[in-house]
Amino acid sequence: MDAKEFTRSIAMKYLPRQDYTGWFEELYQKAGGDPNLIHWGALRPTPVYEEWLHREKPSGNKKKAVIVGCGFGDDAEITAQFGFDTTAFDIAPTAVQWCKNRFPDASVHYCAADLFHPPQSWRNAFDLVMEAYTLQNFPEAMRRTALENLARMTAPSGTLLIIAKGRGDGEPLDKIPWPLSHREIGGLTSFGLTEIQFEDLDRPDDPNQRIFRAAYRKLP
Ligand SMILES: C[S@@+](CC[C@H](N)C(=O)[O-])C[C@H]1O[C@@H](n2cnc3c(N)ncnc32)[C@H](O)[C@@H]1O
Repeated sequence: MDAKEFTRSIAMKYLPRQDYTGWFEELYQKAGGDPNLIHWGALRPTPVYEEWLHREKPSGNKKKAVIVGCGFGDDAEITAQFGFDTTAFDIAPTAVQWCKNRFPDASVHYCAADLFHPPQSWRNAFDLVMEAYTLQNFPEAMRRTALENLARMTAPSGTLLIIAKGRGDGEPLDKIPWPLSHREIGGLTSFGLTEIQFEDLDRPDDPNQRIFRAAYRKLP
């Protein structure tokens, strides 16, 4: 079975009962240590995030960053290399353990946490908040809550970077993963953030699909 099929076979046990988060832990467990069975198991930083870091050259300088839905940990590790005091969390404890096993000497603080119930201490806590390809696994109403929680975690004057599959405003949602629209992401402005960059990128492996890379800044 290929990774896409394997991922879908597990997700489909949960989605009909509207459990949009439970399947991740089972997926990581059933993969039994083989990242090739997981659709996003490339074991390298998300290319459009890596490209953004090299272009923007954010100076971490011990500022605080959080990586949301960190998966295998590569985005967290590259963030730490830019000098950020980095926290990375995932709802799946097995993914978190995987990160700890892969990076035993990491300075990154890996932990299990749920974007829908973040610790109170994370409020206004992070100068850089980065999320890639997690929101698209939730239906629209949940995404709005997720966006609000991401905005809350962002420190005053901090940056929130969202990377997601993209769709046009008003374009219908088909099957999971459900791409985000610019209008939806723009809902962040109602949580005290301002859009500073919005990029609509082609996916190198499939020019018919779009990737949005959007950066927002929280008001001071
Ligand atoms: C599609 S994967 C993307 C992983 C990684 N961001 C990447 O781009 O390679 C989504 C990740 O988000 C995690 N996740 C899903 N729901 C979550 C939630 N509510 N809180 C935190 N992490 C979550 C999953 O376990 C999974 O590791």
